[in-house]
Parts: sequence; C-alpha cells; structure tokens
Amino acid sequence: MVKARKELIKAYLDFFKAKSHKVIPNAPLIPENDPTVLFTTAGMHPLVPYLLSQPHPQGKRLCSVQKCIRTQDIGEVGDTYHHTFFEMLGNWSLGDYWKKEAIEMSFEFLTKSLKIPKEKLAVSCFTGDKDAPKDEESAKIWLSLGVAKERIAFLPKENNWWGPAGETGPCGPDTEMFYWIGKEKAPQKFDPSDNRWLEFWNNVFMQYNKTKSSSFEPLKQKNVDTGMGVERTIAMLNGIKDAYLTECFLPIVKEIERLSGKRYSKNQGETRAMRIIADHIKAAVFILAECILPSNKEQGYILRRLIRRAIRYGKEIGIKNNFTNDAAGKVFDIYSDYEHLQKNKKQILEELEKEEGKFEKVLEEGLKKVEKIFSKKIPVRKEKFVRLMQLKDKSEIFKRIFHNKRLGKEYNIKEAGISDKEVDNATISGAEAFYLYQSFGFPIEMIIELVREKSLFIDIEDFEQKQSKHQKLSRTATEGRFKSGLADTAEQTTRLHTATHLLLAALRVVLKDESIMQKGSNITAERLRFDFSFPRKLAGKEIKEIEELVNAQAQKSCEVTREEMPPQEARKKGAIGVFDKRYGEKVSVYSIGSFSKEICAGPHVKNTCELGRFKIIKEEAVAAGIRRIKAVLE
Ligand code: ALA
Repeated sequence: MVKARKELIKAYLDFFKAKSHKVIPNAPLIPENDPTVLFTTAGMHPLVPYLLSQPHPQGKRLCSVQKCIRTQDIGEVGDTYHHTFFEMLGNWSLGDYWKKEAIEMSFEFLTKSLKIPKEKLAVSCFTGDKDAPKDEESAKIWLSLGVAKERIAFLPKENNWWGPAGETGPCGPDTEMFYWIGKEKAPQKFDPSDNRWLEFWNNVFMQYNKTKSSSFEPLKQKNVDTGMGVERTIAMLNGIKDAYLTECFLPIVKEIERLSGKRYSKNQGETRAMRIIADHIKAAVFILAECILPSNKEQGYILRRLIRRAIRYGKEIGIKNNFTNDAAGKVFDIYSDYEHLQKNKKQILEELEKEEGKFEKVLEEGLKKVEKIFSKKIPVRKEKFVRLMQLKDKSEIFKRIFHNKRLGKEYNIKEAGISDKEVDNATISGAEAFYLYQSFGFPIEMIIELVREKSLFIDIEDFEQKQSKHQKLSRTATEGRFKSGLADTAEQTTRLHTATHLLLAALRVVLKDESIMQKGSNITAERLRFDFSFPRKLAGKEIKEIEELVNAQAQKSCEVTREEMPPQEARKKGAIGVFDKRYGEKVSVYSIGSFSKEICAGPHVKNTCELGRFKIIKEEAVAAGIRRIKAVLE
C-alpha cells in the first residue's frame, strides 16, 4: 500500500500515464508570464493559456506534480493542514474528457491504486446558483460508482467552486473528495462540517470564464482541472491527521525539537510555533531556490516575512542561537528529488544565515520598543478578548477587528461587551505599527501577533495607508496583485511576452553573439524584464540599435506562427531553447518571420503589428555574466 511521498507521486503519474496523459514538468514557483500572481498557487497555473484554448504541444491530457506557494494562508499556518509550500498532484483535460471520465478515473485511482475503501470516502458537489446549475451530473456519476447517496453533499459556491486564480479567468463548479480520518467507523451520513472528514482532492469542471463585469461566460472548451494535496494525502494514507508528523515535515520538526529542547505535541502554543517554523523555513528554502532574495518587494518581501516570523517563533520556544540553517538542512533531505534545490544548497543556506543575522540585530531592540508602545495602551479585559475571539468565525473576526477598526466596532465589539472607548484605548495606531515595521523590519503578521497576545488591537487600515505612502509596494499592493485578473492584463502580457522574442533575437544580432541565452523573464502589465547571458555593460549606442531593430521587425507586421515538433527537430531547425529535460516529447516553436525562432510555452500575439513601440528603460547587471533589460511598449 502507498504510504510514502515519492511512492504517491509515482503511483499518481503512472496511473494517469496509463490513461493517455502526458506528464508535464514541475514548473518554477515564480510564474514567468503571469503578472497577476507572485507565486504558482496551483498545478493549473502554468496551464492558463491552454485552459483558454491555446493548443498544448503535449496534447489534451496532462498530469503533473507541481510545487506551490499560497501566501494568503500565512496567518492560518500553525494548525495541522495549512501549508505555505505544498505539492499538488493534478490531471487535466483540455477540452477532452469531461465529468464522467474525470470522476471515474479519480475513483479508480483512489479505490484501486491507493486501495482506499469506499466506506471511508465522501464527496461534495455544487448546489447551483444564478451563475451555474446544480451539478446533478457529477452526483449521478458518483452514485453509479457505488458512493452512497448520504455520502454526497451539495454545497454552495464558497465550497464547491474553484477559481479564477485572480479576479478574472477560467473557473467552474467542482466536486471534492473527503476521507474519514476519525478513529471511529465513518458515519453513514457525510457531514462536511465535521473536521474528521478531510478534503484532499478536487476535480474542477472549468467551463466558465469570469469576466471583469463579473459575469460567467462559457469557455471555448470544457476543461477538467484537478488538484490533490500531497502532504494531506500522505497523512491520511498513514492514518494520521497531522501532516507535520509525516515524512514531509517530521525531520524538520525533530530538528526543531532538538534545537529548542521542547517536545512537539506537548504544549499547544509550542506545537503551533514548531509548525510555523517548519512550514516557513521550508517555504523560504524553496523561494530562495528560485534565486529570490529577501527584500521589501514582492516575492522577496514574502520571503523576508516567512524567515523573520520563523525566527521570532524560534526565540519564543527557547532556541538560543542561529538555527535557520540547521532546520533548513532537513528540507534538502526530504526533497532529495528536487535537483535545483540541491544545486543551490550552499547559496540558499548562506542567504538564510544572512537574513537571520540582519534580523538578529534589530529584533531585541525592536521588542523593547514594542513593550514601550504597548505600555501606553490599556488592554481589553482578557475574558472579553477571549470572548471576542470565540465569536463567530475567527478568521472573520480577525479581518474585521484587526484589519478595519471601524467595521470591527460595528460588527463585533459590542457582542463581546467591549465599548468603543475600550477599543480606542487598546489600539496600536497605524503610525506606531509602521514605525516597528520600518525601523525594525518587523513583518506585519508578527506585529499583529504581538498585539493579540497582549489583548490589544491594531489599526491595520491606518498602517496600510502609512505603508503605501512610503513605498509603492505595500501589503495591500501585494495582495492587490492577486486580485487583478489575468484577463484584464492578458493582452498586455501577451504583447510584452512576444516582444521578448524580438529582444532576444535583436540582442544576438546587435551584440554579434549567438551564444546569448535567456536567463529569466518576468512580465507585469506595465513592463517586461528580461535577463540574458552577456559579460559586460551595453553601450548606449548598442541599446539604441537593439530598440531600433526590434521596432523595425514590429513594423514589418510579421506573422507569429506556431509549430509543434520534437525538441531534437526544433534544435535542428535552429530554434533557441535550453534543451534540458524540462521539455516533453513535443514542444511549441514560435517563429516571427525569419527573424526569431524560439521554443516557448508563453502567450503570443498573432502579428507583430499589435506590439506598439518598444523602448528599453533600463540595462543593468544582475549577477556575474548576466544582464537585465527592462523595457516597455508604448
Ligand atoms: N485548481 C484546483 C485547486 O487548486 C484543482 O484545488
């Protein structure tokens, strides 16, 4: 029976391979052509263009194991199953099979390959609303497979609908699979609110495109998008609820026990702290492996918050010395199958250590300042604060009180018997919080936690205003990026991405160097950023020539054409590519007239006349032998 991580991944991919799926590579954590997100958050992410009908060179049936990072859940980490970094197994139908085959394959994999007794399974289906009808079809298929009627629940959109990943894009109703992890026999009737039913696999029937005006338009093709959480599934196959006790985390947890001298599972607060440290250090290692460094911007800011929060919890459970390297060491052992991790190990550990050193310097002084600021406030009486925390759903309380003082007052304070005046006396102002953030580099989650521990409040709205005044990228802006939709920016992204092809070809011509390769690319709605191999600074004249050459090609109104072929043939035809094992059996080769030929998976315009005027705004070094160009289309 499958119990181990690598076995599960192999069993899953083998199963779907046998069902005519092609295994696609585990994509980078930083999406190359999707400016709406900071990280790859699901297996479907690298597939967005194909879900929107671009043909995929590997065909219409795909599967993968994908590393993912979800940062909306940072505050939730600490329970048994919220993780910042996780792996997702998935299979896709791009306009090929639909509900019947998808559900039948899921059921066969669970009951035959994983040998899960169907008595331990339950499922949920979409109950229907104004946007889409009740999903009777899925329920009927489950019934036909022998799942009892009482084990099928119909739930609304907040439970049984997935996507879009941003504000707009592909989405649809889903059917979710649950496993009974209780010690007792599974009850006849499925109660989705009983947390002994663990949700672990999701089949999304992506048949809609949510548009900016919030309507749900039918997609050109009906897709299936599934996602199974590796950590959860491993926990459940081992008969445990706590993923931190599986091989995906246990070596890190043991190391934290050794470093702190504390025991996991003994004390609630310490157990939570250990989970946060293990989760955050693991995620930090994977982000660092993508060559992102801690900073106050975008992915680097998330990375910094993760590392610093882990350090703070380390201190809290009594770890005296620097510990991030010891804890991180275990991540490399667990994920021995990730080559890029092993290759960058030395640098990753160095950067962790550096950030730990930086934070070390300010932490103690910062904590003193915290005490000073807190001493001027009057905490709310503990019982009242506890009552407040217990009211309704905690995450809602968290949002309302801590993120918006006015709403907090309106909705919750009175119910807990707390007066407005008491709130005012207990509230850390935005300016005070911003001071801690700015002068001591305290991540906002950490400030919120310190505040909560003392039964105080914080005016987050005020903090965010202060923050965004001082720097363009605030927490709101970071999250705003998740909100802005792919479809809104897709056109511009497509243009900018196509321009990178012309840029690479132009660099090779103007700099007379056929060995220049792309070393990285990042596109936002405003600009492209393109890293390439080249040993020296570019002269102003060269930059001008490159711009002119790109523009000349764009003005020629060249058609952008796509062909599919095996990688070897692409190489023979002179297509630019990295030719490593990330390619599958077939690749898409994009040609722009006779000027550019590249292997690529990104979105492209049909004709270069759509591009507009190309302008380089910056050229700089990023690392030894690597230059970076930022450019816009006007
Ligand atoms: N994209 C779906 C998810 O993340 C499968 O759950």
